[in-house]
Amino acid sequence: MTARAPFAFDPEGASAVVAGENLTVLESLPDESFSLVYLDPPFNTGRDQVRRTTRSVHKAAGEGDRVGFAGRSYETVLGSLRRYEDSFADYLGFLEPRLLHARRVLARHGTLYVHLDYREVHYVKILLDALFGRECFLNEIVWAYDFGARTLKRWPAKHDTILVYVKDPDAYHFNSEDVDREPYMAPGLVGPAKAARGKLPTDVWWHTIVSPTGREKTGYPTQKPEGVLRRIVTASSRPGDWVLDFFAGSGTTGAVCAALDRRFVLVDSNPEAVAVMHRRLPDVPVLRAP
Ligand SMILES: C[S@@+](CC[C@H](N)C(=O)[O-])C[C@H]1O[C@@H](n2cnc3c(N)ncnc32)[C@H](O)[C@@H]1O
Repeated sequence: MTARAPFAFDPEGASAVVAGENLTVLESLPDESFSLVYLDPPFNTGRDQVRRTTRSVHKAAGEGDRVGFAGRSYETVLGSLRRYEDSFADYLGFLEPRLLHARRVLARHGTLYVHLDYREVHYVKILLDALFGRECFLNEIVWAYDFGARTLKRWPAKHDTILVYVKDPDAYHFNSEDVDREPYMAPGLVGPAKAARGKLPTDVWWHTIVSPTGREKTGYPTQKPEGVLRRIVTASSRPGDWVLDFFAGSGTTGAVCAALDRRFVLVDSNPEAVAVMHRRLPDVPVLRAP
């Protein structure tokens, strides 16, 4: 996998895996080109991170680059967050420009899902409220699983949180009809027809982690289950739509999109992740960041 061609997004073209820094790729993407953006960012961004401490300055109407979505609370919110530990400020400083691009590249009917753990979610929620506007917050999905050791010193943490924001609360796409359904907890209370059909999932999803011995396992350490992504892709995109994941890891988003007939762009800067994606999606070209 050497001498890759540079990536250039073509809305009429095919899916791609892009090896490289996601900010560079994001800068090359046209506005409003994706129906769904799913992100599962790392917490420890390490030495690769591009530090940027933006100060948002209020301008008169029509001036400045953030008018219309930064919101008046933006500077204050980020200012106070930056007084927290360095690691949080660095993390938010790393995420902020990427989330701004995520919002920019979302189509008007589009939805952003950001997958976080219990340590980061509250900080990122405040950042996303500032970037999208609170009226664009759609859901907080709790993905609950049951695996691994249990501490006896506090409640064992066995969930991730996925924050969901829409570009336009009056225009977003959401297909609850085709989402997989769950068994009722008390089927005897709802009658046989309803019990047989199952119930629409709520914002709490019980789903096993990727089994260490199962078919899905790629060996990539932070791999997320296809079942969780399948729900997201089914509900928030249509066949043929474009889906973006710029913290792609093992390419779970792409594997699900390929099965559900969506087109996708997957970006990762880690050569190991790119190699795993190439094995998982052998027909998808691997390109380099422009
Ligand atoms: C938590 S993992 C994603 C796992 C993925 N959801 C899956 O199911 O396999 C986050 C990924 O983001 C990548 N990453 C971190 N910083 C990046 C950056 N600046 N540009 C591109 N990729 C980055 C890491 O290499 C890592 O593979």
